[in-house]
Amino acid sequence: MVLLPKVIFYGHACFEIRGIGGNILIDPFLCGNPLAKIKPNEITEIDAILLTHGHEDHVGDTIEIARNNSAMIIAPFELARYMDMQGLKTHPMHIGGSHDFKWGRLKLTQALHGSAIITDDTIIYTGNPCGFLIEIDGIVVYHAGDTGLFADMKVFNELLHGKVIDLALLPIGDNFVMGPEDAAIAVQWLKPKAVIPMHFNTFEAIRQDPLRFQKIAEEKTDSTVIIMEPGETIEIE
Ligand code: NI
Ligand code: MN
Repeated sequence: MVLLPKVIFYGHACFEIRGIGGNILIDPFLCGNPLAKIKPNEITEIDAILLTHGHEDHVGDTIEIARNNSAMIIAPFELARYMDMQGLKTHPMHIGGSHDFKWGRLKLTQALHGSAIITDDTIIYTGNPCGFLIEIDGIVVYHAGDTGLFADMKVFNELLHGKVIDLALLPIGDNFVMGPEDAAIAVQWLKPKAVIPMHFNTFEAIRQDPLRFQKIAEEKTDSTVIIMEPGETIEIE
């Protein structure tokens, strides 16, 4: 029996990937997400929480879930240090760096965006935002984080030493991140086997029709677009 890594979508940019060596959770924004189907205390068996940047719709319920699961937080250095100061276990990284964890290998990529933790009257900048190239159980998953389109995506496959991106998780919401047209160009450049659109419809400002993205991307490329509903699970191969 071949065990394939499972990918669970919890809405917005939040995904859980369950592999043989461990389970990781990315950008766990649940309580503030009107579309989320699950509460932070229902998330279990997480080894690491990966954060792309400090914005509330990505950091979300990280502190609660990290404490409940004794999970390590992996994030760009400044954001990791912030989480350290909250008394959490962290592993700081930065853009261009890779590291082998027990669940797989992670490389931080650039993202064109901002990164800050904002309270009522303070902005704490948390360094550069990032994306993730994740190698888990022989599969490569690219989580773009929040980003605009950037042409370095054309060479991402050269960073994988012969492997290819099996699954790309790309924002399509526009306004703060790529819209459907730019995301379709990203698909053209990244050449993933499959794409899951994310970061849309959570709020009015990022309302998009994922079927329109699917049509544009599938016309332009050989990649398959998989539209996931919050709470859905798929297996990747
Ligand atoms: Ni953001
Ligand atoms: Mn965001």
